[in-house]
Amino acid sequence: MSKQTEKIKELVAKREQARLGGGEKAIEKQHARGKYTARERIEMLVDKGSFEEYDMFKLHRCHNFGMEKKQYFGDGVVSGSATIDGRLVYVYAQDFTVNGGSLSETMAQKICKVMDMAMTNGAPVICMNDSGGARIQEGITSLAGYAEIFERNILASGVIPQISSILGPCAGGAVYSPALTDFIIMKEETSYMFLTGPKVVKTVTGEDIDAEHLGGASVHSTKSGVTGFTAKTEEEAMEIIKTLLSYIPSNNREEAPRIESTDPIDRKEDILNEIIPDDPNQAYDMYKVIRAITDDGEFFEVQPKFAKNIITGFARFNGQSVGVVANQPAAYAGVLDANASRKGARFVRFCDAFNIPIVSLVDVPGFLPGTGQEYNAVILHGAQLLYAYGEATVPKITITLRKSYGGSHIVMGCKQLRSDLNFAWPSAEIAVMGASGAVAVLCSKEAKQVKEEGGDVKEFLVQKEEEYTEKFANPYEAAQYGYIDDVIEPRNTRFRICRGLAQLANKKQSLPAKKHGCMPM
Ligand code: HXC
Repeated sequence: MSKQTEKIKELVAKREQARLGGGEKAIEKQHARGKYTARERIEMLVDKGSFEEYDMFKLHRCHNFGMEKKQYFGDGVVSGSATIDGRLVYVYAQDFTVNGGSLSETMAQKICKVMDMAMTNGAPVICMNDSGGARIQEGITSLAGYAEIFERNILASGVIPQISSILGPCAGGAVYSPALTDFIIMKEETSYMFLTGPKVVKTVTGEDIDAEHLGGASVHSTKSGVTGFTAKTEEEAMEIIKTLLSYIPSNNREEAPRIESTDPIDRKEDILNEIIPDDPNQAYDMYKVIRAITDDGEFFEVQPKFAKNIITGFARFNGQSVGVVANQPAAYAGVLDANASRKGARFVRFCDAFNIPIVSLVDVPGFLPGTGQEYNAVILHGAQLLYAYGEATVPKITITLRKSYGGSHIVMGCKQLRSDLNFAWPSAEIAVMGASGAVAVLCSKEAKQVKEEGGDVKEFLVQKEEEYTEKFANPYEAAQYGYIDDVIEPRNTRFRICRGLAQLANKKQSLPAKKHGCMPM
């Protein structure tokens, strides 16, 4: 055998060893936990044969607590480039079979390398997290490694899409990096996100809680709003990432991929002419409206289980990707509260950063009042949504279906927040507040007088409410001032949005020169 052949054999053997991560036993344990290995995950996500791995032979340099004996090629992360649907992406997957995927200084260097490459080449970064956080044996160098990653997450924000999947127990730095990225996908039952695990919680606060209730997918998809998506299986998590990528561009200089649509842009949906109930207090399902107007009725929802009173997600109109923000009358009457506001704000900002037009479907009775909201800083969160809409320079089309009252009218993409096209259905009610609230404020003295004179107060109030409704509960008052560009037949909504988007294709709008705004937080 020639020397060259021998060296090639050695390379092949080293590669085989590296591919085993923490070893066969550790892989078996990982599978027994119901989890795939880092390499299996990457294979599942990317185009077949497209993965090119970097730093396969990198080793950690720690000699504390016997770590010099725990050496595995590549350390606890697999990283490289690949394609998904033919588009370049950079990926890294933490390898739980190597020291619980805990982050070493060298792992941080590997991760930073692919993040830097992604920035240079304008491609998304996708990370698969399964890690116990900072590697305890390394001390400060591990923390410094996390800080290097966080800084890159921050600098990449709004430049390239960053997507995190959480596929195992993630603690400490392993959750802060995902929190700095644009979207998080959590696998149900085997993945957790917390600052510290249940044992540390018990020691510090005395609270007895299991991992699922502390930071499982159910907690973060419904209560905290930390995660955008949940998946029943790892396969499903990968499908979610692929679908998400199909709606967004690879970087902030590009447009989202446009696909050929066979759905006619002038498709009329007669059900929309009947969808608004006669009783203004009766709900209807906004999903029906969304599915009636988007290409082929498709809608890819973001945060479907959190703050259901607002709906956010991606759809296409004539093949063009858009972000849809819609109030949901079937959940808490579509009222805006602190959670709905921050959910909406985050989504609008993502769309604006990545050149994705925003279509808003408005049916909102106002902001939810009360101490529960005030103590939760609804003022600041509401201001976030306002700020996000007002700051966004992408094409913005707002359709008012029914209620659009007070502050919530302004927030949800009104004309003065530089919305490009504002349409209203004939059922729109655009006013400072609803009829009963307005009459209660305006006519209390008169009502008292009617009572003193022995008159029928109820009849008086009904008459006043009718007067108010006649005057304000329609779109024409706003149309009279040009705040509504047109009152449209509901069944024509899809056509008006498609045509509007075509008109706005070359929209250019900017913000005053500044370092950055001070968004309320
Ligand atoms: C070094 C670690 C580790 C860590 C786990 N391991 N976490 N090694 N540093 N942070 C090792 C374990 O010792 C074990 O090694 C192997 O990984 C698997 O871990 P298990 O505990 O057996 O697995 P499991 O029961 O599934 O529990 C996983 C876990 C738990 C929930 C992640 O290991 C855990 O609570 N780890 C500590 C989490 C934490 O508090 N991290 C915070 C770090 S501070 P062996 O050799 O036995 O197989 C931090 C600060 C960053 O990250 C800054 C943020 C702003």
